[in-house]
Amino acid sequence: MAKPLIAGNWKMNGLAADLTEAVALAQALAQQPAKARVALCPPATLIERAARALADSPVLVGAEDCHAQVSGAFTGDISAEMLADAGAVLVVVGHSERRAGHGESDADVAAKALAAARAGLEPIICVGETLAEREAGRALEIVTGQIKGSVPAALAGGAVTVAYEPVWAIGTGLTPTIPQIEEVHGAIRQALVEVLGPAGAEVGILYGGSVKPDNAVEILRATEVGGALVGGASLKAADFLQIIRAV
Ligand code: 13P
Repeated sequence: MAKPLIAGNWKMNGLAADLTEAVALAQALAQQPAKARVALCPPATLIERAARALADSPVLVGAEDCHAQVSGAFTGDISAEMLADAGAVLVVVGHSERRAGHGESDADVAAKALAAARAGLEPIICVGETLAEREAGRALEIVTGQIKGSVPAALAGGAVTVAYEPVWAIGTGLTPTIPQIEEVHGAIRQALVEVLGPAGAEVGILYGGSVKPDNAVEILRATEVGGALVGGASLKAADFLQIIRAV
């Protein structure tokens, strides 16, 4: 099984001055190494500076999204190759804020995941149901459908991570119960084995959505939870460090 991964997604937050938080995190992890892999995904404007600031540290730098093509007439977009060139080693794809706010389909997400692998980046492929879908009893169907549509079979055996982020838990302070998390992660595991074959049994499945210092121990201990994708609580080194120490 993959080593746990605790990844921070800064979303559209952070200016150069905020990299002091990333450096403080790296210093704390230099004093006492983490049991997990640790990554920070700042906005694209900060990737190169973050990569320089964290070069000799255990903190990996990731991106929040990528375009599927290598280059071309795609104003405002950034390719996986460009992110790798800036120093990223991971990239989040299919975040619900991209799926909902930018109309990204499962096929778009799968193309981005393949682009990440093409550029040598590890994709973190996100899935998750809305509150309406959960209330309609469709959470497992939605999430496994997203896995089958967004995780390309060609990634079998390569570096790939999946994140279960229920849309209704993101930035709300709400979290599923531990049995609910375990039920969805179990269904994701089955779907990953269907898509990737035996390699699907090795893929880390992160939980994301209102992970905080005070719920991290319980969540990270749950069956099939291979780490966390953390939004708000990754912006401050002290909070993020507490979550990392919960592994
Ligand atoms: P919050 O931790 O702020 O709920 O965000 C979760 C998330 O969307 C991480 O990608």
